[in-house]
Amino acid sequence: MQIIIYDNAQQVAVNAAKWVQSLIKEKATPVLGLATGNTPIRLYQELVAQYQAGNCSFANVTSFNLDEYHKINEKNPQSYRSFMQENLFKHVDIEKAKTFLPTCQQDQNPREQGLAYEEKIKQAGGIDLQILGIGANGHIGFNEPTSSLTSRTRIKTLTQQTLTDNSRLFADDEVQPTTAMTMGIATIMEARYILLMATGKGKAQAVKDMITGSVSANCPASILQMHENAVILLDKAAASMLDDHNYYQWADQQNRKLNQEFGFYHNF
Ligand code: F6R
Repeated sequence: MQIIIYDNAQQVAVNAAKWVQSLIKEKATPVLGLATGNTPIRLYQELVAQYQAGNCSFANVTSFNLDEYHKINEKNPQSYRSFMQENLFKHVDIEKAKTFLPTCQQDQNPREQGLAYEEKIKQAGGIDLQILGIGANGHIGFNEPTSSLTSRTRIKTLTQQTLTDNSRLFADDEVQPTTAMTMGIATIMEARYILLMATGKGKAQAVKDMITGSVSANCPASILQMHENAVILLDKAAASMLDDHNYYQWADQQNRKLNQEFGFYHNF
């Protein structure tokens, strides 16, 4: 894992946006994996600013979101489709027909929907760059602790901790869904690059478990230790429980020198 520690959440977002821009400029038909939640909001704001400044276009991008609530109407303001529309899609030139979320409506079979989502990702050529956040319990997507490390897109029951963490987003008269469709851990692991962002003290323990704990279904994000190209962007608060802070910063400086010498290395 490449671990990069920035002073604050804004720097995390600006640098994550550079990865996304680099992908969408370099690949003719880039495929982006997207996340919702608090963490990527600044990234999307930065991407919108770059788009408005004429520095990038999403016209050729196909996107796949990590997750979506079960049986939620896409027009519901709480749906992840609405979140993506409000925070990114409506501000840039992405084609709606090329934006996908793992939906499952009332009359649909979650298993069939999951398989169909996997097939769609395959047909698009696989995900080049997957954006991830991390739950305070170590989840990625809605792969809660104990999720199989070889899981595929499917329906998951959310943990009490995730429900409590996300309850701030629901008004008293709104029903908070307790199940969601999510890409599986194996689905996420097939992305060519992973860019996980974590900011704030509330993520410090999960970040420590992900980076220095054993690979375990109890901390689904720890599977990223097995990914060839996982880049972890942290602010100081999220990195505050890491012992090897100095090594990560030193290694990052060396990587920057290598980048200057050999060019920004990636292989989308
Ligand atoms: C969202 C997702 C989740 C979040 C995680 C962190 O699509 O898949 O795994 O990334 O719950 O959420 P925030 O960023 O709100 O702390």
